Amino acid sequence: MEIKPISGALGAEVSGIDLKEELSNSESADIHAAFLEHHVLFFRDQHLSPQQEIRFTRIFGEPDIYPFQKGLPEAPEVIEILKTETDERNFGGSWHSDTTYLETPALGSVLSALEVPEYGGDTLFANMALAYDALSDGMKQALEGLVGINSSDGPYRGGRQAVMAKLDGMKDTYQTEAKVYVSEHPVVRTHPETGRKAIYVNSSHTKRFKDMTEAESKPLIDFLCQHAVRPEFTCRFRWTPGALAVWDNRCTQHHALNDYAGKRRRMQRATIKGDRPF
Ligand code: SIN
Repeated sequence: MEIKPISGALGAEVSGIDLKEELSNSESADIHAAFLEHHVLFFRDQHLSPQQEIRFTRIFGEPDIYPFQKGLPEAPEVIEILKTETDERNFGGSWHSDTTYLETPALGSVLSALEVPEYGGDTLFANMALAYDALSDGMKQALEGLVGINSSDGPYRGGRQAVMAKLDGMKDTYQTEAKVYVSEHPVVRTHPETGRKAIYVNSSHTKRFKDMTEAESKPLIDFLCQHAVRPEFTCRFRWTPGALAVWDNRCTQHHALNDYAGKRRRMQRATIKGDRPF
């Protein structure tokens, strides 16, 4: 197995391993260690079935149900992400960390490419620990103890009712009975496995700071969201059929680019159960 970083910020491509096969304990341990070091890993030409994707998630934690989309009958923790030729919007098309509006947001996500456009539809990732390290000491002190209110209620906060209803490819599997979720989380969270601090605010789900109004919170949230995705904190992955990515939501954000109008893109995503951020 070979692990090669793809940028100076985060992300590594792993080759020389077939994830369809049962992995040995030492292979799983190496993949887990690389995940903690690089925050997002990419594997080419895997073509995993939903059940094989679920087995892979168990290297990192337990699979979990995504609340806004019905899972596949054979693997309820796996959802299909489909943008059809006629869809204008896409799923995940703004910077975010998955499900930060839940009490226990997703630890990570595993995404496999089933059908990809000949160009476009790349996914961007940003390293929130690197972004935190680059803040001044004064700003780090100001953020200490701040709590963010994360909600699934706005079109870009979870992109739910309003957005899902407009996605031809996904509206039939939307969980119409899903409620609005709101959760409080530290603005700077500590990674439970590495101990590193990371910015935990995102423009899709973080609405305001606790005990402050949205207007009072907005300037600092805007600053943090812009700072967090500076180009030098990011990497970009070009999908090919059968490629797979696994990312750590505790210290990254991602953004699915919507630059392939009139083309089809079909992915399958499994969610990994997380714990309460601290
Ligand atoms: C997402 O999980 O936000 C979607 C990512 C993608 O489709 O690239």
